[in-house]
Amino acid sequence: MEKEVKYDFSNSTCRQDSNAEKYTLREELFGTIDVEPMWVADMDIDTPDFVLDAVKKRLDHKVVGYEEVPDSAFLAQIEWMKKEHNIEFNLEDMIYSHSVVASMNTAIDAFTSRGDKIIVQTPVYPPFFHSVKEHGRVLLKNPLKLDDDGTYHFDIKDLKSKIDERTKLLLLCSPHNPVGRVWKKDELQEILDLCLEHNIVVFSDEIHSDLVYSPNKHIPFASLSKKARDISVTCSGVGKTFNMAGFTMSSVAITNKTLKSKFLESYNKFHYAQGSSLSHVAYEAAYKNGKEWLEELKIHLYKNYKMIQELCSKYQNYIKITPIEGTYLAWLDCRGMGLKDKSLRDFFIKEAKLGLSAGLSFGREGSGFMRLNFAVSTTKMMKVIKDLDKALSVQYSK
Ligand SMILES: Cc1ncc(COP(=O)(O)O)c(C=O)c1O
Repeated sequence: MEKEVKYDFSNSTCRQDSNAEKYTLREELFGTIDVEPMWVADMDIDTPDFVLDAVKKRLDHKVVGYEEVPDSAFLAQIEWMKKEHNIEFNLEDMIYSHSVVASMNTAIDAFTSRGDKIIVQTPVYPPFFHSVKEHGRVLLKNPLKLDDDGTYHFDIKDLKSKIDERTKLLLLCSPHNPVGRVWKKDELQEILDLCLEHNIVVFSDEIHSDLVYSPNKHIPFASLSKKARDISVTCSGVGKTFNMAGFTMSSVAITNKTLKSKFLESYNKFHYAQGSSLSHVAYEAAYKNGKEWLEELKIHLYKNYKMIQELCSKYQNYIKITPIEGTYLAWLDCRGMGLKDKSLRDFFIKEAKLGLSAGLSFGREGSGFMRLNFAVSTTKMMKVIKDLDKALSVQYSK
């Protein structure tokens, strides 16, 4: 018997009148507002009611002054991480952050000095390499290896050949945006072994960790062993999972006291404060009530992915979809279309009327690829598929 569904993702609230970045920046990025925005990694799916209701309830209290993050918010997250990801943190390990990218910048400031090398595995979410350069550190690029079947892997041999005594930090994207990999234990272990050997700190960005499709399983880097915990910093939060990036709250978990105090030295320089009172209650409500919603969301997202996969198989000589294990980001290999990057982007904007992220923005290795965010309602997904099918059929007269 089919399980009864509780949540409906067939339609979603229009975001155009809410100052949503993916809409407001269309003209600037795509030169037109006549595109369906499928770029920024947030969802065109309503933030769940159990989050919104908690915020409304908080507003019954008539004062919104300075507040500390309540222990209950991080305790709810700790409980979630234990149950969902088999990792145990304590309250004293948890640090508030308004943004994972800000935490990454703080880690760079804390654990490296000017001229030190930082490992980044491209193609990757652009702030990974921008942050390194903006701090005057040296980018040590360790591109992922692309197999014939379209899946990506770490290139450990390349990494080994590049590490030297100035290599101090590795920025790990786990699960990986944009290639959709959920790293396996043995893959992470190889990274750990190398980092232990060379005294390299691992900044593990696990913001997409809840958006993993069965049978894949997210393995927190810090869960590998006591040694892994000792050399790593783990970032996660509810922003992606429950579509609440606008609440700007995430966490940094550090168990090693020396690393933590180094991190806090940099952190305190920037006066992060403690976030907003509304974020605190939203965060806690999400972790306490989100399990069922998330399970249904993932089923919905995977159906969207399958729709794109089906379309790609119709045009398999031109466009291929990278097999996905996690995230709601489809990494489209469009090299078969034989277009230069600018023309490829123009095709999606002008012919399909879709605003996607250009592969090149994730590093040189993204040339010929486009990233499509498929976290939208069924209605919107069907329209996108129709528009893309039409554009491709005109181009390839199917
Ligand atoms: C891998 C990764 N890290 C961090 C972020 C952004 O996180 P935040 O908004 O908390 O800075 C994103 C957003 O797309 C992401 O994909």
